[in-house]
Amino acid sequence: MQATAWWQHGVIYEIYPRSFQDSDGDGIGDLRGILHRLDYVVKLGVDALWISPFYPSPMADFGYDVADYCGIDPLFGTMQDFDQLLQEIHNRGLKLILDLVPNHTSDQHPWFLESRSSRDNPKRDWYLWQDEPNNWQSNFGGSGWEWDDVTGQYYYHSFLKQQPDLNWRNPLARRAIFEAMRFWLARGVDGFRVDVIWLMIKDDQFRDNPPNPSYQTGQPSSHRFLPVFNSDRPEVHEVVSKMRAVIDDYRDRVLIGEIYLPIPKLMAYYGKDLGGSQLPFNFQLLQTAWTAEALARAISEYDNALPAGAWPNWVLGNHDNARIATRVGSHQARLSAMLLLSLPGTITLYYGEEIGMTNVPILPDLVQDPAEKNEPGIGLGRDPERTPMPWDSSPLAGFTTGQPWLPLGHDHASLNVVNLEQDPESILHLYRTLIALRKSHPVLVTGELHSIAAANNVLTYERHESGEQLRIILNFGDTPATIPSEIGEILAATSPGSTSERPNKLIQLGAAAGLIVRLHTSR
Ligand code: GLC
Repeated sequence: MQATAWWQHGVIYEIYPRSFQDSDGDGIGDLRGILHRLDYVVKLGVDALWISPFYPSPMADFGYDVADYCGIDPLFGTMQDFDQLLQEIHNRGLKLILDLVPNHTSDQHPWFLESRSSRDNPKRDWYLWQDEPNNWQSNFGGSGWEWDDVTGQYYYHSFLKQQPDLNWRNPLARRAIFEAMRFWLARGVDGFRVDVIWLMIKDDQFRDNPPNPSYQTGQPSSHRFLPVFNSDRPEVHEVVSKMRAVIDDYRDRVLIGEIYLPIPKLMAYYGKDLGGSQLPFNFQLLQTAWTAEALARAISEYDNALPAGAWPNWVLGNHDNARIATRVGSHQARLSAMLLLSLPGTITLYYGEEIGMTNVPILPDLVQDPAEKNEPGIGLGRDPERTPMPWDSSPLAGFTTGQPWLPLGHDHASLNVVNLEQDPESILHLYRTLIALRKSHPVLVTGELHSIAAANNVLTYERHESGEQLRIILNFGDTPATIPSEIGEILAATSPGSTSERPNKLIQLGAAAGLIVRLHTSR
């Protein structure tokens, strides 16, 4: 593998802007707040920031309901703030990736207001209007169809009814989104993370989805049917390649796709001749059981399925999924970091992962997320992984001077950036070490994956490149493990003192401990 582009050898850091840093005391993070924290991300060693949406929005889905693709919501600042942030990001040698939400707009977007005003409005066909609803479900619960009294038809929404889906078969609607992309590309942004890219095109005959035979009561209502006709349609790849063509009109930009699909289908999003998304998000680590055996299988399966020349990528968390330290337990957080940062290709971190942040339980009357409000109590809420970043030990953790929009974790007085900064053995320092190791040892980024194996809950794999060989040894077990391995030179350990060399080429690894060693090769 040869990494030539910044997005190939870099580490991306996702910022959920409402929760990173508030600068004006309204309890909600903003662009000036991010600006204020740029030196922190530089020190962490990441290369690019992906910021979740900050466009004008009624905030029904906290910005994923866009009312103007080319503006900044006053909650987050002004266009001047944006330009300054972009400039400062670039001044520090970082890149900026925006979140593009092309599948749906807000119901307050002028396009939809026009579309719903009359059946013969020129923008009527920009959205999906039908006389009768079919059985397609909203991902946020209930039917995906909403009756509109004014014109006596239903419109389709994959998410909230305040998020009507655009009709990607309409060339003018397409062009409007492409123009919005150009607006930001011309301003200097370095790429997009494209929201729900696999949902963008729906069946043109609006056929009903087949029932899901394994659906059980208590599961989200959207699981009642198999999403055959409203997701991952063959025509979507043409749309992705058109988006890619927009990106390719500018130098060095990246198109990342949000895609929750099984591996073979995911791989199709690299596109014919790799003309699709350069990085279809790989969510394997979010979905695989946390055992050495399951992880070994998932890593091999992904690695083997990559089309020739396709660039791998890995993710442990994002604003839609439980934080990794909660999913696998805080005691496994350091190990998860070593796993993530020793895999090939591009790595994306979610803010707070580097300090071992956990989900924050949200009391029912503090719930913000519509996913939880619509189908409460079955674990769909995403507020717990979106809580404010704890920066210091002060009462509001240095995040705001006002009332935080979501509560801080109860442990913020101890678990915060300033405290971890002072402890050279903290998880924050481990993240920095591992990110720096990817820079000093490019074999971690571009080297081939070799000898993936799992035994007794210890996962091992090697990374090889130009005669350099690293072995990664990760004990997922809750008890120490002794495994045969050459020790070589230890490049990184999850916890100092948790490993030791035994006679006869045996290594003793502590519970949930890992090592990266450089093997002595004969060359
Ligand atoms: C994506 C976003 C999620 C949002 C949904 C609808 O999955 O990541 O946060 O709610 O799309 O836009």
